[in-house]
Order: sequence, then structure tokens, then C-alpha cells
Amino acid sequence: MKNLLNTTFSRRAFVFSALALSAVLMPGCANKDQAAGGDAGDKKPTIGFVQTGDLSDWRKAHTQSVKEAAEAAGYNLKFADGQAKLENQVKAVSSFISQGVDAIIIAPLEVSGWDNVLEKAKKRNIPVLILDRQVEVEDDSLYVTYIGADTYNEGILAAKWLVEKVDGKAKVVELQGSQGASPTINRRDSFLEVIKDHPGIEIIASQAADYELTKAKEVMEAILKAKGDEIEVVYAHNDYMALGAIQAIEEAGKKPGEDIIVLSIDGMKSAFEAMVAGKLNCTVECNPLQGPKAMEAIGKILAGETDGIPKKQMVLDKVFDQSNAAEEIGSRKY
Ligand code: AHR
Repeated sequence: MKNLLNTTFSRRAFVFSALALSAVLMPGCANKDQAAGGDAGDKKPTIGFVQTGDLSDWRKAHTQSVKEAAEAAGYNLKFADGQAKLENQVKAVSSFISQGVDAIIIAPLEVSGWDNVLEKAKKRNIPVLILDRQVEVEDDSLYVTYIGADTYNEGILAAKWLVEKVDGKAKVVELQGSQGASPTINRRDSFLEVIKDHPGIEIIASQAADYELTKAKEVMEAILKAKGDEIEVVYAHNDYMALGAIQAIEEAGKKPGEDIIVLSIDGMKSAFEAMVAGKLNCTVECNPLQGPKAMEAIGKILAGETDGIPKKQMVLDKVFDQSNAAEEIGSRKY
């Protein structure tokens, strides 16, 4: 598999040099950048980037990080917003392939559904980088590398924090992210993995709220009506859902952070504000500023230097709670 990737991408590096040379020797000829929609005579590589959507500050920070890093690296970035639909994302990737972009970056909404379009990209020798969320494909050589947070570890960190906080005993409501997304799967599985050794910690309700604040508020309202006084903890798969749950808890006349412990994942500035206000107890960081690392990898891929690129490049995240939120809040970038 490694050899195939190397051959494919070395060929691309060769094509780059040849195109640059032909542009110098034959300035009137159409080059690959023109085919990809670049300006006439513009020799910048064109990268297609497919995002999941733009529903939260986390996602906006992620998009901005990729756009800024692409600009700093001197690439033309073609951006497509999947608007929370997998079919939109697949169509956008197909369109990038037809346009003949030099590389594609995908932040996949869901783990499944990628084999066919990635095979098409491979046939056209277009390298693919998977960013932020993971994919499950039959053939791993369909993409070069995955760059993102270790979302499995985030669930472990959240669960360990909780075990210590409640001394191994609590009734928990879990608010899951969108179904089929790798962070949802990982954050659920890893949390369960830790609490299985602590039988006093029990999940009494678990529902999807799709990483959305308003949905989480609605879901939490219903759970509060059904389970009311039983609820001791809310574990939300992201900060936005925790903020929605906090609103629902307050409207139900309870104090989030005191009557009900709230913990989540992302480490957004708004989560820090909630911790400082005493309404959120803990957030595990999931850093969205992944653009520079992605562009570093794209640079190597386009230069044909794929040998040293690991299949997974994961950033380690930190745990923050009310004990360190105030001193950290000033340095939050998203
Ligand atoms: O894929 C990362 C997750 O997706 C973040 O935790 C969340 O906020 C976003 O929707």
C-alpha cells in the first residue's frame, strides 16, 4: 500500500514540476490550475476542502483555521459546505475530482459512505486528507492521512474526571452528537469503557442532539420531565449541547453545575464562561485549529514526500474544570 501511495504521489510531484516548466516554456498553454478554476498563469496548487457545516463557533473556528493556513501556504482553496448532509459532501468531493484539483481535504460528517468517491479520487491520482473526523473504508490506501483530535481519548478523560468528582457513583444523562460521526461513536464508547469498572455510575438516559444547542435544550427538557430528580450528571458530547442543557436545567428551576453536574467536550470560550459562572463543571478540549497541521501534510504530499506521513496524526487534548477556568479563559482562541 505504501509503495502504491508513494508511486502515485511522486508522479504528482513530477507532474507539478513538468507543469511549472511547461508554463515557463509555453506561457500560452492552459495549465492544470486553469482546469481547476485558478487564474490564468496562476501556478498555485488548488486544494478542495469539504466541511461538515457551520453550525457552531467550534466549526467556524475550524473552517477559518483551514482557510488561513491554506492562504499562508500559498494554495488556492476551494471551499464546500456540506450543510450537515453527507450527500452534499460526497457531491462536493465528486465535483472537486471533476475539476481536477491537486488535493482534497474532507471533514467527514459520518464514518461511512466514502468508499466510492474516494476510489474515484484515487483513480484520478488525487490525494485525500481526512481532517477532524474519521472514516471507515474497506481500503485504507484511499486516503493518505487522518489529522484531528483523539476523540476516543476525550471520552476517557471526561469519564475519569467524573469518576473522581462523584466518587464512582452517579446517575448520568448522555447527550450524544450526530449519529454515525466518529466523535459520537468514540466519545460514547470510551466513556462506557471507563465507567464499566464503576458500577455505581449509571447512564439513565442517552439521546442524540446532533451537536446542536437548540436540539440539546429540547432533548434535555423532555428528559427532565421524564426523569426529573433522578438526574445527577449531564455528559454532553460537545459544549454547544452542554450549553443547551444548561438552559433547560435552569428553566426547570434547578442550578446547573450544582444540582446537576454538567461536563462536556470542546473547550470553547463560551464553555469557559459557563465554568467561570459556575454552570458548567468540566470541558475536555478538542482543538479545532487544525489548519496549519493539515497544510504541512498537504505540502509534503504535493512534494511527493509521503513516506514519513503517519496514517493518523492526533493532537492530545487537555481537561479544564472550574479550578483552572478563570486563569485559562483569557488565552482561549475559539
Ligand atoms: O468533530 C468535532 C466535533 O464536531 C466537535 O466536538 C463538535 O463541536 C463538532 O460539531
